Amino acid sequence: MIDYDSDSSSALLSSIAASPIASVISNPRLPDNPIIAVNSAFCTLTGYRVDEIVGRNCRFLAGPATEPWLTERIRQGTRDRKPVLVEILNYKRDGSPFRNAVLVAPVFLPDGELEYFIGTQVELDEDAVGPSSSRHRHAVEVVKTLSPRQREVLQQIAAGYRSKQISFHLGLSEKTVKMHRAIILEKIGTHNVADAIRLAVEAGL
Ligand SMILES: Cc1cc2nc3c(=O)[nH]c(=O)nc-3n(C[C@H](O)[C@H](O)[C@H](O)COP(=O)(O)O)c2cc1C
Repeated sequence: MIDYDSDSSSALLSSIAASPIASVISNPRLPDNPIIAVNSAFCTLTGYRVDEIVGRNCRFLAGPATEPWLTERIRQGTRDRKPVLVEILNYKRDGSPFRNAVLVAPVFLPDGELEYFIGTQVELDEDAVGPSSSRHRHAVEVVKTLSPRQREVLQQIAAGYRSKQISFHLGLSEKTVKMHRAIILEKIGTHNVADAIRLAVEAGL
């Protein structure tokens, strides 16, 4: 199990590697907010190689029929430093379009400075009945299994806070926050904070 005791930057970067969900991490403190880490699920989904992804802004997935108002919602979320989930038309490397349920969420340093954005991408099957609503229903069911306190902690994680800030916001010891977080990740069935953030937003928490 990955040690989330150290909810350090490197732990976050390496945690996406094992995720089955396409994931990228960008650094908004660099010019044009480039991607600094990507997992193999993202390469499989989009058809791009790692060396074609790292160092670029994620806008390369957009194309001619991408809805500008949905791009604007992502832009707004990054501007406001709030998580956003949109189902936007994107394009793979070979030019084929796909419906991308993309979540973009900020992560803050313990001192409150914006550190990263996490982006996770899920391809929706246009023909299936309510594919995204089935993810929503699943997420709601999982969140229901959490205690009210765990839900509060998950909400804070989804807002991009690390355990130090969460303990301050909720008036708990850091040790207690970390204990809650370990239980939350176990109940969600992930070792990965990016996946937990996605589930919280999908549930509408
Ligand atoms: C971490 C992260 C992941 C993103 N993932 C996607 C994505 O999968 N699809 C997409 O259309 N835009 C995505 N975006 C948004 C684009 O990078 C970009 O901000 C948006 O297209 C606005 O482009 P503009 O800066 O040219 O206005 C992501 C942004 C961030 C920060």
